[in-house]
Amino acid sequence: MKSKDIKNLRQWFLSQRRDLPWREEPSPYAVWVSEVMLQQTQVAVVIPYFLRWMQRFPTIEALAKAPVEAVLKEWEGLGYYSRARNLHQGARDVMEQHAGVLPATVDELKAIKGLGDYTVGAILSFAFHQRKAAVDGNVMRVLTRYYGINENICLGKVQKKIRALAEELLPQEEPWIISEALIELGATVCMRKAKCYECPLKGECQAHIKDQTDRIPVKGAKISTTVLYRLVPVIACGDRILVRRGEPGKVMADLFQFPYFDITHADHDTSAQKELMKGALKKELSLSGVWKQELPQVKHSFTRYRACLMPHVYAVREEKVVPGFEWISLDDLRQVPFSSGHRRILSMVLEHGLPTLC
Ligand code: ADE
Repeated sequence: MKSKDIKNLRQWFLSQRRDLPWREEPSPYAVWVSEVMLQQTQVAVVIPYFLRWMQRFPTIEALAKAPVEAVLKEWEGLGYYSRARNLHQGARDVMEQHAGVLPATVDELKAIKGLGDYTVGAILSFAFHQRKAAVDGNVMRVLTRYYGINENICLGKVQKKIRALAEELLPQEEPWIISEALIELGATVCMRKAKCYECPLKGECQAHIKDQTDRIPVKGAKISTTVLYRLVPVIACGDRILVRRGEPGKVMADLFQFPYFDITHADHDTSAQKELMKGALKKELSLSGVWKQELPQVKHSFTRYRACLMPHVYAVREEKVVPGFEWISLDDLRQVPFSSGHRRILSMVLEHGLPTLC
């Protein structure tokens, strides 16, 4: 990148950068937590989670000592829960291997659970002020456009080339400013729909000059999403509800959910849903409950799925043992980590109360 552009980018960042809580005191731990939260999640969503997290787990030691349920509870709603589990395990690794202090070398950082090229680069750059690039999707966009790179950025060799370019362009003096400026430019100006009129690099940007910002970066075929239709019985015995805790090693590990039954499409009306659910309750859970109420549908996306949850409230007279499930009081359910879609169903139940049978 031309030195004039580096200068422009630096000036632009120093005058336009957003005040973000993790920028106030970029300790290695704060950078680690914020960068993990920012993967796949927007800044505005992350801010309150980050502030709560730093209050609740102010140090690596506090995080390492916390039970996994408490960690997932703080993450509830952010999605991609493996990030929280890895952060937690990573904190335990740092306690065991580095006496609670994040190390300052690529190899040592990479050996910590959940730390990949991007997060390692961000910690070394923003917290340790080393001359290291942190190349995320934002930076990929900026650099592929600036250099007019027409290759598919999903390919490892293309990513490697861009990482090398990013590292090369960093100045010797205060390189961390340029590495964060590239992220900021991608997040606020060089977005999917580029705002080139605001960009400090527009003079030399190949995609802008050739009017190709809508074609660069080039990505491989999009992964298609699958729609899931799920009947969700909220089964109550008094004020206790039947729930299941996600199995270790699975996507929803340690997150609670109501029982659910997948059906093939959502065209069923209420009475057809009730009929299907009656059969499923009997067959899958050996229960027969009294149908009480249909709740509004909840739409919720995770990884490559879009789920349509169709909740119905049932009442039963006794707490039968259902293998894999447990009965938990509504009050206690407020405290446990729930998967996002099911959390919204729980919120409706908490808000409107349960029908009583006995
Ligand atoms: N997106 C990812 N990392 C970021 C950061 N450090 N600041 C703003 N947006 C980001």
